[in-house]
Amino acid sequence: KQQNEELKERLLQLKKERNAIILAHYYQRDEIQEVADFRGDSFLLAQKAAETDADVIVFCGVHFMGESAKILAPNKTVIIPDERAGCPMADMVNVDGLRKLKAQHPNATVVTYINSSAEIKAETDICCTSANAVKVIQSLDSEEIIWVPDKNLGNYVEKFTDKKMIIWEGYCNTHDMLTVKDVEEMKAQYPNAQFVVHPECRPEVVALGDFVGSTTAIIKYCKESDCQEFIVGTEDGTGYQLRLDSPEKKFHFATKFLVCPNMKVNNLKKLVKCLETMGPEIYVDPEVAAKAKLSLERMLQVK
Ligand code: 13P
Ligand code: SF4
Repeated sequence: KQQNEELKERLLQLKKERNAIILAHYYQRDEIQEVADFRGDSFLLAQKAAETDADVIVFCGVHFMGESAKILAPNKTVIIPDERAGCPMADMVNVDGLRKLKAQHPNATVVTYINSSAEIKAETDICCTSANAVKVIQSLDSEEIIWVPDKNLGNYVEKFTDKKMIIWEGYCNTHDMLTVKDVEEMKAQYPNAQFVVHPECRPEVVALGDFVGSTTAIIKYCKESDCQEFIVGTEDGTGYQLRLDSPEKKFHFATKFLVCPNMKVNNLKKLVKCLETMGPEIYVDPEVAAKAKLSLERMLQVK
């Protein structure tokens, strides 16, 4: 505890010295969310990165999030607590595969989930996050969509459009692990609870949801709902904001396995260290970044 207090003090001092802003995804450890300037889902944090006046962005999340921040704010220094924090879903799609698909469907618009590398974004027409995926798809003129890399989110979005969707077979290892049996057991145990679920879960699990939405949407729904008890179908770090907003409500995570090991690689100690040493720093090839930026900016413009 004493050590944590010292680390927090050091962090405040360094933040001022460097004119840095700390952005933390809702899946980060509590000790990181506690000290962040902004907590958010992928969409909110990308917006914050694009808008900030700070010189340094410390991105506490996984690698593609830091990369997106750098692409949107190329003149800022973007650092991350640990470069090993990757996203397995982002690694499930490669440039060669996507180019082949584009050649097979030359009239299709490429829509890429923000959980992807800068190189993939550079091959993309427009990005999306789970918060705006449906809006993004509905904003497009083309009748054919190439969707990468999340098949579960793709299947969910497909229900809201008549467009033909060609869906890549990627998935999130953490959300995809949740099964119908897990949820049914929880519902039997907590019959008064509503089930809130992230669309990165399997379609048959999403179908059981009383509410389906991105991390921020889930947090907002639980805060505003009259219901007092929830079974939560998303990553366990979300509990920090859920409990902060509604200390009197009960939140049961649908399994104890809803933990993204990549998100948890970061901790307070590494956060302080990265501001001390100003590294690891995110670097994106400028040519790739310029192309990728267009696809992210198009997403930010969708209202
Ligand atoms: P959101 O932040 O868009 O809810 O996405 C969840 C996720 O898995 C981020 O890696
Ligand atoms: Fe990737 Fe899933 Fe972890 Fe998000 S929760 S970083 S999608 S593995």
